[in-house]
Amino acid sequence: MDKVFFVSGGTEAIEIGIKIARKYHLDNGKPSKSRVISRWQSYHGSTAGALAWTGATARRNDFMPYLHDFNHIPPAYCYRCWFNKTPANCDLDCANALENEIMCLGPDNVSVFLAEPVSGMALCGAVPPKGYFERIREICDKYDVLLMFDEVMTGTGRTGKMFAYEHFNVVPDILALGKGLSGGYFPIGATAVPQYIHEKIASESGVFGAGHSWGGNPLGCSVVSKTLDYIKEHNLVERSHTLGEYLNNKLDTLRSHPLVGDIRGKGLMRGIEFVRDRSTKNRLKRAWDSLPGYLLHALKKGCSLNIRAGVTGDRPVTQ
Ligand SMILES: Cc1ncc(COP(=O)(O)O)c(C=O)c1O
Repeated sequence: MDKVFFVSGGTEAIEIGIKIARKYHLDNGKPSKSRVISRWQSYHGSTAGALAWTGATARRNDFMPYLHDFNHIPPAYCYRCWFNKTPANCDLDCANALENEIMCLGPDNVSVFLAEPVSGMALCGAVPPKGYFERIREICDKYDVLLMFDEVMTGTGRTGKMFAYEHFNVVPDILALGKGLSGGYFPIGATAVPQYIHEKIASESGVFGAGHSWGGNPLGCSVVSKTLDYIKEHNLVERSHTLGEYLNNKLDTLRSHPLVGDIRGKGLMRGIEFVRDRSTKNRLKRAWDSLPGYLLHALKKGCSLNIRAGVTGDRPVTQ
């Protein structure tokens, strides 16, 4: 990643990234490339654009009349595989779904595929199966579709690598960042691109007509700069990996608990999926009724947990 466009938060970073993709194709002589493909059970932000690319229906439903119609493919969600596969017989149907979608829309119309490398709030730490992003990269390259990673939540060390995509054997064309980029001390996000994307736009039209009042805010950029220095000086990325392994070992002891369906994640980004019954994977009837006890207990022990009730419930309960 060679060039960075600073904005005011994660949602703006997503919006700018999608616009950069569009501008790249325009300047590359492919004006029909405009469609964005993303995944169901994803979260990319709350403006009309970012919500349209978001796949968490609980977040979208109230605002559907304002959302443009974009395309979503099934997520990489091994615990409740949309293709009813298990890790043993997985043949990456969830990645191949991207090729199907591109073929249906027509490759000449597709601009970019947007995904979180490790899922955030919508699937709480879901990690894709082995080979998933390699296959996605292959498909994107085949059809000249840009690959954009939303690392607003996973970026700057959260998963035990500086960027979560480093866990996989791929590099994106566009990277959206936010949250930990400033350590939470200043509201800022960023969209980063490699030289070839910047070069194409700079040398062709020379114009990127998108931006916001506080874009490139010097105070925010200074906070980012200091935050990155701090992360480096204190080896926080390695620490996220080490503590993440410790956390994972501790969480492992909960695996046999009757209410714990799945435990997943990387580094210090971990999620637990609670279920009513481990064998059927039926969801808790009303998560809010059952979980506050756990939350309060955790809080007393100094651990603040975030509940995502029903967010994973985009599919029938028996799935
Ligand atoms: C993966 C992901 N993308 C985008 C966003 C939106 O970022 P923001 O809330 O800073 O606008 C979030 C926020 O939670 C997120 O988790």
